[in-house]
Amino acid sequence: MSNTGVQARRSAVFLLDQILGEEPRLMSELLAGGALDKLPPDDRARAQRLATQTLRGLERADRLLQKHLNKQPPLTVQNVLRVGTIELCQGGAAHGVVNTMVNLVSQHRTLSHLKGLTNAVLRKIAADGPAAWDALRAPRLPKWLRGPLSEAWGADAIAAMEAAHFAGAPLDLTAKGDAAALAERVGGTVLPTGSVRVQDAGQVSAMPGFAEGEWWVQDAAAALPVQILKPVAGERILDLCAAPGGKTMQLAAMGADVTAVDDSVPRMARVKENLTRVGLKAKTVIQDARAIKGSYDAILLDAPCSATGTMRRHPDLPYAKDGSEFGELIGLQAEMIDHAWSVLKPGGRMVFCTCSLLPDEGEVQVDEALERHADMRVDVDALSVAGVDPAWISSEGGLRLRPDYWSDIGGMDGFYIAMLRKQG
Ligand SMILES: C[S@@+](CC[C@H](N)C(=O)[O-])C[C@H]1O[C@@H](n2cnc3c(N)ncnc32)[C@H](O)[C@@H]1O
Repeated sequence: MSNTGVQARRSAVFLLDQILGEEPRLMSELLAGGALDKLPPDDRARAQRLATQTLRGLERADRLLQKHLNKQPPLTVQNVLRVGTIELCQGGAAHGVVNTMVNLVSQHRTLSHLKGLTNAVLRKIAADGPAAWDALRAPRLPKWLRGPLSEAWGADAIAAMEAAHFAGAPLDLTAKGDAAALAERVGGTVLPTGSVRVQDAGQVSAMPGFAEGEWWVQDAAAALPVQILKPVAGERILDLCAAPGGKTMQLAAMGADVTAVDDSVPRMARVKENLTRVGLKAKTVIQDARAIKGSYDAILLDAPCSATGTMRRHPDLPYAKDGSEFGELIGLQAEMIDHAWSVLKPGGRMVFCTCSLLPDEGEVQVDEALERHADMRVDVDALSVAGVDPAWISSEGGLRLRPDYWSDIGGMDGFYIAMLRKQG
């Protein structure tokens, strides 16, 4: 076993200790805080991949492990066993995996006495785990999230969403230029909505065309709000809640005069970095979206939300969150809609979207906004862009996207998108 593999596994266990610890952290926060910065890029990618795969299969791993444990060991050893189980059940060579995981425990300052237990349990998993793995059900969402989602979408839909979360997600790209040419260059396929999908992609920054700024990473569902807004060259467009800038780049690439607003200094730095890499221009403003002034032809409001639509890419979310902050976010979204409406020109249009599966952050938000604003109308026709299935249109006239849609080609993130027109 190379030293590289040891470091990646130790780091994966570290990430899991933080995400599943007493004060849970999101993986994105840990990475932005430099948790893996000391590792070389391929090790960093491997640690992240291992932690992500372990979170996706956590319920299955725990079911297999519980047969061999009389009581739960400390969290770090649990996580060593979980990572080992995931690797063993996904085809990892038994000898290498067991030895490395035992070494991690034996080198630990306070847990080395548990190396015998680690060895014994992982040997049993190596013997019977891989055969038992496939017979286990797709891991379920935790109760705090399963409850409201089942109420909204029904038991069958939740089962399909859980299967989609377990399957994970391919890499989707938005081309700055021609999508077909990009698909050929990166070995991907063009999706019905125009994004380019790459299965089993490696390190993103090493892919062809990244350094040249020919594309950016963006889930196919996340690329739809701008396609629905249909910016026209020269239009003054306000991009509210813009970071890290996926939609800003789409708007700028279509020739719009874009003002991108976000209240986070480090996240706005990412927008600028991204714009520079792809050679596009937008005005960037660090400010609360509810304080922005001016008068705009069109607005894209990609409001902060529970991000429950992105769980197939971010399986840490159901563990690191408990829903306690969602009420506040729903209030913030309504305030943002109302303020944005006040800076939209009469006759103008606004796309409101969230990467959420909760109707309170989508369908309900629009229903309530329509009651507050007599000059607001929903434009259902605007949703008919290439690749959109009319069955995805919801009763109040928005677009409801779910992770279990397109399951035969790798799914899509959950999203809600509505086009709102202001009377002239
Ligand atoms: C869903 S993300 C936006 C994603 C982005 N539109 C894209 O396509 O890459 C939400 C953003 O809202 C920002 N945000 C949260 N509260 C805000 C506020 N009060 N004013 C402005 N931006 C805010 C966050 O910093 C975060 O970058």
